[in-house]
This record gives sequence, structure tokens and C-alpha cells, in this order.
Amino acid sequence: MKGLILCGGSGTRLLPFTFSLPKQLIPVANKPVLCYIMEAFKKAGIKEIGIIVGDKGEIIREKLKDLAPSGVHLTYIKQAKPLGLAHAVQTARPFLKDSDFIMILGDNLFGQSLEEALGIFWEQEADSLVFLIPVDDPQRYGIAEVENGQIISLREKPLFPRSNLAIMGIYIFRKNIFSAIERIGPSWRGELEITDAIQELIKMGGKVVPYMFPGWWMDIGKPEDVLEANKKILNLLTAPENSFKNHLVATPLCLVALSTIVKESKLKGPLIIGEGCRVIGSEIGPYVSIGPGSILEGSILENSILFERVKIQGLKSPIKDSIIGQDVSIIKGNKGEAKNFLLGSGSFLSF
Ligand code: G1P
Repeated sequence: MKGLILCGGSGTRLLPFTFSLPKQLIPVANKPVLCYIMEAFKKAGIKEIGIIVGDKGEIIREKLKDLAPSGVHLTYIKQAKPLGLAHAVQTARPFLKDSDFIMILGDNLFGQSLEEALGIFWEQEADSLVFLIPVDDPQRYGIAEVENGQIISLREKPLFPRSNLAIMGIYIFRKNIFSAIERIGPSWRGELEITDAIQELIKMGGKVVPYMFPGWWMDIGKPEDVLEANKKILNLLTAPENSFKNHLVATPLCLVALSTIVKESKLKGPLIIGEGCRVIGSEIGPYVSIGPGSILEGSILENSILFERVKIQGLKSPIKDSIIGQDVSIIKGNKGEAKNFLLGSGSFLSF
């Protein structure tokens, strides 16, 4: 069993961050979304992982040099154009060869391990297993229709959905998915849809099994999703054994890296502060993630994500519900209402 993570796509709904960073690298509780997926693979014993990348492939490769979990072997596969999920699978064929594989969209975050689903896939000798979850807005997703324990139809973003069971973006396949992909054409949006390929697999007589996902799931499409995911992961964090200051580990959890200096400040967990930060005369939390190398002086911060090396000095008004890209500086300021920012990397704000 191999793993495949899809990290192509342009991430337009997460601009300005995705000008400089693929969305799969956006940090949630100080760790790129992609890392949570790799950890889930590792936990399920999947160590051969292919990563499909688009034009920001080099950035992903650089970042994962330090961050990939130990013991996994990564292969980068370039998808020249974002021509759809099924096209991405086709592109990965030289890596996948004849192996079974589990594919996950790189912007998926989920709170449940993969082992149970893998067990069902093998036990039922399925040709494919598709992770499903009920949603309130089925028109936004690929939707599956289930009958007698099998998927009987799938439609990509249907106007008149036949169920509320959304395709999450986690799938298990055998090599016969390649024959199904060869038989489909581009959809109305000009893409080779994996949803259409699975529909074709059913037509070919394949056994496609649903997996009703028992945990929580999010896809990180918009800034609100990223803040929501940050909240979720911070709530689930447990105290690690090292590299964080023990005396600051409080409940709710405040994780402060060892090399970080905190003085005359109030911390309200859950929160995480990365290595080499300076937090002075500030009020931080709850639900704040501060990337390494950041400096906060005389600042108030709540429900926000700061990427690496952010500098906020003397801004007396609170910053809330904000995402602040790497190397951003926000300096000085007067009393006032809470401020709410979406600042891409390198921004400089002084007022
Ligand atoms: C893709 C899939 C869709 C699935 C969704 C989950 O859609 O095509 O079937 O429900 O991911 O996030 P996209 O994000 O490409 O619009």
C-alpha cells in the first residue's frame, strides 16, 4: 500500500497567502496541513508516499526537508498543469506502479486514523473505498449514493444531489482505477474528475465501498476554515515530552518552545508559540499559534495564526481572528477597536 497526497491546485480562495505558499503548507498550530496527513500515513504503516506538486513544488520540497516525519520516503511527482484529480493519479502511475494506494487531497484535515478504513478495504476485497461524511451543502462537493453497503453512483457537485454524503477527498484504490481513468473525458470544468473515474469503475463492475467517516473533517479552502482548524487542533494538543517549557504548560495547554522568551505577559491557552520568539508585555490567547522567530511587544492577540518571523510592536488594539503571513511587521498604534487582518508574507503596516 502506497500513499499519494495531492498538492497541485492554485488555492485562489486563500490569497494573499497562496501567492507565496501552496495552501498545503499553511501552518495550523505551527505545522503545515500536509504534515498531519503524512503523520496519519506513517501511523497506518504507509511509508512510501508520493506527493503530486504543481508550480510551487520546490517550496514544498524545501519545507519538507526538515518537517517530514522520520521513516517515510517521499517521491515528488510534477503535474505540469492542474487538469484534475484523475489526471493527477494518471501522472503518478510510474510511482504507484501496480500497488494499491490511498490518496488524500493535501488540504484535508481529519481527526481519525486510517487503519479502520484500510481493514474494511482488504476485508471486503473492494476495488475502491471512498470516505464519506454528511454535509449541509451537498452542491459544493462530490456526492455519493449508497445502497446495500455499496456506492451505486457518484456525481461531482450536482445541482440536485441524491444524498447529503460528501466525498471527503480520501480514497483507496487498486490499479484498475487507471483503466477507468482512461475511459473518461474532461468534465464541464475541463478537468479529469476522480469522481467520474470511480463512477466508471462501478460501470466496469468494480466494487466501490463507502466508508462513513466517524471523526471530524475539514478542507482548508478559505481563511475561516484555517482559523477553525487551528482552534480544533489546539484543543486536541497534548503536552509533548520535550522542546517546550514545562513551567508554562498550563491547562488549557500553553505550549511555549524552549528557546522562546516570555516576559511580563499573560498567556491564555490553548496556544502554541514556536522556537526563538520574544513575547514581552503582551496578552496572548486563547487559540493563538505563533510561528518561530516572531516578536510581540505590547500586543494583544486572540484566535489568530502568525506564520514565521512576524513582528508586532506597540499595537494597543487587540488583533483577533487574523492570519498574518511570514515576515510581516505591524508597528505602533493607538487605542481602538479590535483589528482583523489577512496579511500576506512581507507586508509592513505602521499606523
Ligand atoms: C474535490 C473533489 C470533490 C470533493 C472535494 C472535497 O473538489 O472533486 O469530489 O467532494 O474535493 O473537498 P474540489 O475541491 O476540487 O472542488
